[in-house]
Amino acid sequence: MPANSAGKRVTAFVGSARKKHTYSAVREFLERLEARGSVEYEIVPLSDYRIETCRGCKLCFEKGEEFCPLKDDRDVLLEKIMASDGVVFASPNYSFQVSGTMKTFLDRLGFLFHRPRFHRKTFTSIVVQGVYGGRKIVKYLGFVGRGLGFDVVKGSCSTAFEPMTEKEQCKRDKTLARQSKRFHARLIGSRDHVPTLFELMIFRMSRQSIRLTLDDSYLDYTYYSDNGWFESDYYYPVRLGVVKRSAGNLFDFIFARISKARADQG
Ligand SMILES: Cc1cc2nc3c(=O)[nH]c(=O)nc-3n(C[C@H](O)[C@H](O)[C@H](O)COP(=O)(O)O)c2cc1C
Repeated sequence: MPANSAGKRVTAFVGSARKKHTYSAVREFLERLEARGSVEYEIVPLSDYRIETCRGCKLCFEKGEEFCPLKDDRDVLLEKIMASDGVVFASPNYSFQVSGTMKTFLDRLGFLFHRPRFHRKTFTSIVVQGVYGGRKIVKYLGFVGRGLGFDVVKGSCSTAFEPMTEKEQCKRDKTLARQSKRFHARLIGSRDHVPTLFELMIFRMSRQSIRLTLDDSYLDYTYYSDNGWFESDYYYPVRLGVVKRSAGNLFDFIFARISKARADQG
């Protein structure tokens, strides 16, 4: 269970096999977070866990994640996320993307994009690069975080040549200090995140597509139905203003038309 109001539990998943720049950026971030109060943390180096490569059978999508033929540490890692109030995905920039370890981990969570379950958990990302390309990875991880249901706080990218210069170190520390302040405010804050128009659109699009193209013989359909998401404004009760409420109705209308047109064609 997540920690109670006396303390928030934050877990950082690190996609580097060595304890160098990504790991130390994560530790710096978490120590700053802890210093702000009411936070306990754990660092999870993904390379310490068995994470097998997804075979693409889609049994997790269609029948349920328990039917996955791979026997690895996916569920141990998943339980760590479920037991957290805040989550960090951290990766070095490898060939302009997250590391292979991080990507293999994300693929193992792929079914959760269909059946998101991390709402009300605060998320951020930490990317470390040698030269260039890390900012796009931060954007990518933010998008992934939203897809998994997290409340996403803007991530950070820092540069670490070897050896790291004092100037780079100073810049990195400032960046991580700002990020930990943002993250702490959202983690401790009691107000549920109000979805942006984009987040609202994604929710309405997903549910219209599921409602109109599937039926209760599909897991995704029953998941939405059991959660009350076919009737709700968003994944959790939230006050949408007049503009977002109207936009939501418009999204429902548009995506119903699109889903119907696709079904008629198919
Ligand atoms: C296989 C590999 C690919 C890399 N690709 C990039 C890259 O595309 N862009 C970049 O800026 N740095 C790249 N780097 C540099 C790393 O991002 C950088 O050294 C980072 O600090 C490594 O993190 P670590 O110290 O946690 O291992 C690459 C490093 C490796 C080992």
